[in-house]
Amino acid sequence: MIRDQTPDDPLSVFAAWFEEAEAKEVNDPNGVALATVGEDGMPSCRMVLMKGYDEQGFVFYTNYESRKGRQLLAHPKAALLFHWKSLRRQVRIEGPVAQVSDEEADEYFASRARQSQIGAWASDQSRPLEGRFELEKRVARFAAKYVVGKVPRPPHWSGFRLSPSLIEFWQDGAFRLHDRLVYQRDGEAWRTERLFP
Ligand SMILES: Cc1cc2nc3c(=O)[nH]c(=O)nc-3n(C[C@H](O)[C@H](O)[C@H](O)COP(=O)(O)O)c2cc1C
Repeated sequence: MIRDQTPDDPLSVFAAWFEEAEAKEVNDPNGVALATVGEDGMPSCRMVLMKGYDEQGFVFYTNYESRKGRQLLAHPKAALLFHWKSLRRQVRIEGPVAQVSDEEADEYFASRARQSQIGAWASDQSRPLEGRFELEKRVARFAAKYVVGKVPRPPHWSGFRLSPSLIEFWQDGAFRLHDRLVYQRDGEAWRTERLFP
């Protein structure tokens, strides 16, 4: 697709590729590596699940007090990397990150399974854990606390939206002659460029 065509809008390319990934990947086609930077400029990377995308950006949810959460609040820039193995494609996305609104986070939190909602309260994500039993005790404590009614969203659990300033589509080619198409934000429009593989 990207070999012969250069659509004006990278989101239309992403949408087409993501749709194919949803159809073909064995699991978690929305699994994406998220790279952040720490105080000392050291990068760190882990997987998250992309829970939505549109012209405004790509959204994922996490604990704001986790390592990545603290890093993003201090340095609100990040990179995302999708790799769809069965399609032999990768998409790199870079840009500034902002917190989603409380309303947006509430809506998504409410859509999650009750056990996952309890888990969000129980997990002090990225902080030391004595052993599995400590986690299980916390799950039991919050399950008892919220035994009736709606589980509220923890104040430290919410989403980030990365608004892309760069998106690169990479498609495997025979004998390592891959296709690379880069979109860079240029005001309201996108500038495109092809790169040697
Ligand atoms: C496929 C996959 C999806 C994941 N999705 C999320 C996610 O959406 N949010 C999240 O906080 N952690 C997610 N995790 C766990 C993170 O990779 C990571 O272990 C955790 O968030 C702690 O990272 P940190 O210490 O850098 O903050 C996922 C892990 C995998 C393997």
